Amino acid sequence: MASAIVTGATGITGNAIVHHLCKDPSYTKLYTLSRRNPGASDPKIQHVTIDLQGSADNMATHLADISAEYTYFCAYMAHEDANELCRINGTMLANFLTALEKTGAIRNLKRFILTCGFKQYGVHLGNCKQPLLEDDPLLENDLGGRGAGAKWPPNFYYTEQKILRDAASRHGNTWDWIVTLPEDVLGYARGNFMNEATALGLYCSVSKLLPGSELPFPGCKAGYFAFNTWTSANMHARFCLWAAAAKKEVGNNVFNVTNGDTQSWQDLWPRLAKRFGCRVPQPMFPNGGIPDTPGYMGFDSKTVRMPGAHPLTARAEDLGVSHNPSTEETPTLFLQIDPEKWAKRPDVNDAWVRLRDKYGLDQTAWEGATWDFLTFALGRSWSCVGSMSKARKFGWTGYADTWEELEETFRVLEREGVLPSAERLKADFEM
Ligand SMILES: NC(=O)c1ccc[n+]([C@@H]2O[C@H](COP(=O)([O-])OP(=O)(O)OC[C@H]3O[C@@H](n4cnc5c(N)ncnc54)[C@H](OP(=O)(O)O)[C@@H]3O)[C@@H](O)[C@H]2O)c1
Repeated sequence: MASAIVTGATGITGNAIVHHLCKDPSYTKLYTLSRRNPGASDPKIQHVTIDLQGSADNMATHLADISAEYTYFCAYMAHEDANELCRINGTMLANFLTALEKTGAIRNLKRFILTCGFKQYGVHLGNCKQPLLEDDPLLENDLGGRGAGAKWPPNFYYTEQKILRDAASRHGNTWDWIVTLPEDVLGYARGNFMNEATALGLYCSVSKLLPGSELPFPGCKAGYFAFNTWTSANMHARFCLWAAAAKKEVGNNVFNVTNGDTQSWQDLWPRLAKRFGCRVPQPMFPNGGIPDTPGYMGFDSKTVRMPGAHPLTARAEDLGVSHNPSTEETPTLFLQIDPEKWAKRPDVNDAWVRLRDKYGLDQTAWEGATWDFLTFALGRSWSCVGSMSKARKFGWTGYADTWEELEETFRVLEREGVLPSAERLKADFEM
C-alpha cells in the first residue's frame, strides 16, 4: 500500500499522473497540491490548495499532516526571462522540500520524481546533437568564440535538479530521485489551454471553414521534413509510476520519456488534413518555406532570429565539424503563416465564431490558446529526437503511437467543448 503527493495536479502532466494513480490499486492515498482545485472525485484523493511560491514555514503549516512515500513534482510556472524562470521554479521546489523537512514528512519519502523536459538539451535555443541522450554534456560552459563572457542562458531544469540532488544528500540519500524529460506533451487539463494539441486542433478546425478548406503547414519547410519525438501525457504518467516502483538501480537517474516512435510533420500533417476534412495544399510551400520569404497566399509570415548559438556548436570539437562561431548561422524560426497574427485576422475570427456558435464551443479556449507555442513547435528547422535506449535498458517497455495519442487528445478536446467533433465538421461543411 503506497501513498503519493502530486504537485501541479491541475496541469497537463500532473493531471495525468493523478488519473493513473487513482487507477493503480497499490496507491491508497493521494495528496494533490495546486492553487486551483482539480475537482477530482476519487475517495483516495485529498486536495490541498496551496501556493508553492510561499515560504517553507507557510507551506509546512498547510502540509502538517501530509506524508507520502512518493512525490511527483509537476508544478511549473512559466516566465519569459531565463533567470526569473530559474528563480521562481527553483524557489518553489526548494521551499517545498524544506517544508517536508520541517514537517518531518521527508523521513517517510522513498522516491521523488521531478518532471523536467527537453529544454535540458537546449532544444529551445537551436539545433542540438541528435539523438538527444541523457548523458550529453549540459550547456553550462562559456559560449566559446562568441565574445568575452558570452554564456549559455541559465537553465531552470539544472537549477531544479541541483536543488533535488542536494536535498537528497542532506538526508544521507535515504530517498532517491528520478528526473523525467518529456518532449512536446500531448494531453489536456481542464482550463489549461497552454498545449500544442489545443492550438493545433483549433487551427485545423478553423481552416476547414476558410475558403477552399486548405490546411497549409504554418511553419518552415525544413521543420516539415525534420524528425521529432512527442510525449503523451498518459505515457509520461505511466512512466512516472513505473519509475517510482522500479528497482533501486533506477533511482538517481535522468530519463528521456517519449512515446517511443519517431515522427515528423510530413507524416502527421496529411493525416491532420484528412481528419479535419481539409485539403493538403498543392504546393505546400509556394514561396520556398525559408526565412525572410513572403507568407503563404497572402498570410503574414514571420522570421525570428534567436539570440545565441545552436547548442550543436558546443559539440563542434567532439563531432569534428569545422566551426566558425563568428559566422555561424543564427538559430532562426520561420513561419509561412504567423500563428499569432493568423488568430487575430477578421476572416479567421469570423470562422471561429461560426464554429463556436454552431457547436457551443468554449470561447476561453480560443482566447487562451498558445499560438506562440505553435510558433516555436512548427517554426524551428531542427529535429528533436530523444533516445529511449536508457529507459529500455532499465526495463521500461512502454510505447505509444504518436498519431493515435494526438487523435485521443483531440477526442478529449471534443468532449470538453474545446474542438468541434471532426465527424460533424466534415458532415456539416462539405468541401
Ligand atoms: N506541457 C508541455 O508540453 C511540456 C513539455 C516538456 C516539458 N514540460 C515540463 O513539464 C513540467 C510540468 O509542466 P506542465 O506542462 O504539466 O505544466 P502546466 O500544465 O502549466 O501545469 C502547471 C501546474 O503547476 C501548478 N502551479 C503553478 N504555479 C503554482 C504555484 N505557485 N503554487 C502551486 N502550484 C502551482 C499549476 O496549478 P495551479 O495553477 O492550479 O496552481 C499546474 O497544476 C514543467 O517542468 C514543464 O517545463 C512540459
